[in-house]
Amino acid sequence: MPEVNDLNISAVKQSFDTALRAVSNLDELDEIRVRFAGKKGDLTLLLRSLGKLPPEQRKQAGQEVNKLRDEIENRLNEAATRLRDAENEKQEIASRIDVTLPERGRTAGAFHPVMQTMHEIANIMQGLGYSVATGPEKEEEFYNFECLNVPPWHPARDMQDTFYFPDGTLLRTHTSPVQIRAMLQYGAPLRIVCPGKVYRRDNDTTHSPMFNQMEGLLVDKNVPFSVMKGTMSEMMNAFFGRSLKYRFRASYFPFTEPSMELDIECVECSGHDEHCRVCHGTGWLEVAGMGMVHPNVIRAGKIDPDVYNGFAFGIGLDRMAMLKYGISDLRLLFDGNVSYFMSSFEGAKSC
Ligand code: PHE
Repeated sequence: MPEVNDLNISAVKQSFDTALRAVSNLDELDEIRVRFAGKKGDLTLLLRSLGKLPPEQRKQAGQEVNKLRDEIENRLNEAATRLRDAENEKQEIASRIDVTLPERGRTAGAFHPVMQTMHEIANIMQGLGYSVATGPEKEEEFYNFECLNVPPWHPARDMQDTFYFPDGTLLRTHTSPVQIRAMLQYGAPLRIVCPGKVYRRDNDTTHSPMFNQMEGLLVDKNVPFSVMKGTMSEMMNAFFGRSLKYRFRASYFPFTEPSMELDIECVECSGHDEHCRVCHGTGWLEVAGMGMVHPNVIRAGKIDPDVYNGFAFGIGLDRMAMLKYGISDLRLLFDGNVSYFMSSFEGAKSC
């Protein structure tokens, strides 16, 4: 064997040994395959250099290179099988299902505080003999305004307050149109509450363009004013779970006469904290609009106002939810961030 050639063969073999020992994955093994057994690899170079040997040495050197090539091929294949098996096993272990692990548990869904409030108040009213009625959110001017004694020149009809559709229909600005629909459908006597979404062009810290109301309507013969006051206080006491103080303030709505607004004693400070963040020291919270139904409205419901009268009220459900559950910012009610929402419960103990 000529020295140069001999040295090259054993040098290639040695560096192959070293490289193979350091291999830890199939990608690295591929690199080694290219380096030694590839088209431009060391073995090819060795085979090419055979031509330069004197003829009498060529045969033996050729055999040795072939032997080395076989060895390299075999060992590369062995290593590939070994690494592939190891990788498969690793993957299998990673994807193995451990049936002995305890279950992750399920989080139960919960009602949104406004929904909860809606249900609570509706339940209270059902206890007083009221039925729940619903109506469309996309409403006609006729039901939303006209039948409710709101003339075309009334500011409530303004584009700044109401969302109109191009065809002249609108997003109802209150739940009061359900009063008309219910009277037309069921006649008198009637006791209904109508919960649902309403829409106005309003958007700031205390107003949202969509909010929730609950309308109430009672129509019967000789309904006295006092029944309305009794019903409202009964409802608020039941909702807040205690006997509150009330204040009825004269107000104006086109669809009721006389009209009033209901203030309840501040549920946060009961009027004892002049810095109260809920009532701002006034001791009172405005919670509902109401009044004796205007004869024109009864007439629009195709009921005879000389025989029947009644009262109606409208409560802001979002405000009621905020007051009962101590939620400080209206926008949180429409926020999808649950943890932020949870942290808004005042005095909540974090455990
Ligand atoms: N619809 C009135 C509002 O949205 C509330 C209301 C309802 C007042 C019924 C009186 C009677 O402000």
